[in-house]
Amino acid sequence: MTEHHSHTDRPGPHARAASVSAPDTAADTGQVSESGRVPGSVEEWENRYSGAEAVWSGRPNVALVDVVTDLDLTPGRSLDVGSGEGADVIWLAGGGWQAAGIALSPTAIARSRAAAESAGADADFAAADLVDWATADDHRGAYDLVTGCFLHTRLPDTRADLMRHLGELVSPGGTLILISHATVPPWAGGEASEHEGAGHEHHGLDGDFGTPEEDFALLTDSGGGPWELVLAETRNRPVTGPDGTESELEDGILVARKV
Ligand SMILES: C[S@@+](CC[C@H](N)C(=O)[O-])C[C@H]1O[C@@H](n2cnc3c(N)ncnc32)[C@H](O)[C@@H]1O
Repeated sequence: MTEHHSHTDRPGPHARAASVSAPDTAADTGQVSESGRVPGSVEEWENRYSGAEAVWSGRPNVALVDVVTDLDLTPGRSLDVGSGEGADVIWLAGGGWQAAGIALSPTAIARSRAAAESAGADADFAAADLVDWATADDHRGAYDLVTGCFLHTRLPDTRADLMRHLGELVSPGGTLILISHATVPPWAGGEASEHEGAGHEHHGLDGDFGTPEEDFALLTDSGGGPWELVLAETRNRPVTGPDGTESELEDGILVARKV
């Protein structure tokens, strides 16, 4: 995951944040419950967040900041899906957005609220599942901007479902920005393990992340459009691995506008 990880420019204790968040086993293997959902989602994310003081860097994702800044959108209502510890939402709120974020872990949401308060940001957070959120009548088509960074695990069971639900949230004329892993972190490829603390001993990355163009095709096929492709590309960013090694990660960036 994330490498947020993106916060990739950050060495130090959060290098791991910049590191690895990888698709995990249940999602990779397609093990799903009878309801069609990956089991243990909330619990596993909660364990991950509650097992560390901070999982991510506390900084907004570099690619997201760059893209939002370049687009120069008129601030309106925004939703960050899988908002982690809230850094992207807080950054958007600071830019005048009526910003909200959802994530599965109550600990992550509590942390996000505390971070917003200490930053003096007016942002809303909810511990909620994308699937439930997107199917609520008052959320459908309600957001001028929907963002999602490194949504590779514990989301809807297929990428097509993920794209459909993200798209459902966007208002006509609104924008969807998706930042994803394009390549596996060099230190976490293949069978590599991730050692991030409680509950995260083994998250092998298989590198099957898809491309922004493929995500856009799923979005247009989902029936909620039409959609205009604004940007689909990959960008490299520097990152410091868990052992301090400097390297680069490739992010896939998709920007689409609901026509
Ligand atoms: C890899 S983390 C990325 C966090 C943040 N976007 C970032 O870049 O730092 C993925 C986040 O997605 C959230 N998540 C996973 N599945 C979700 C779902 N179905 N609904 C809402 N959030 C979900 C998790 O709680 C986690 O915080």
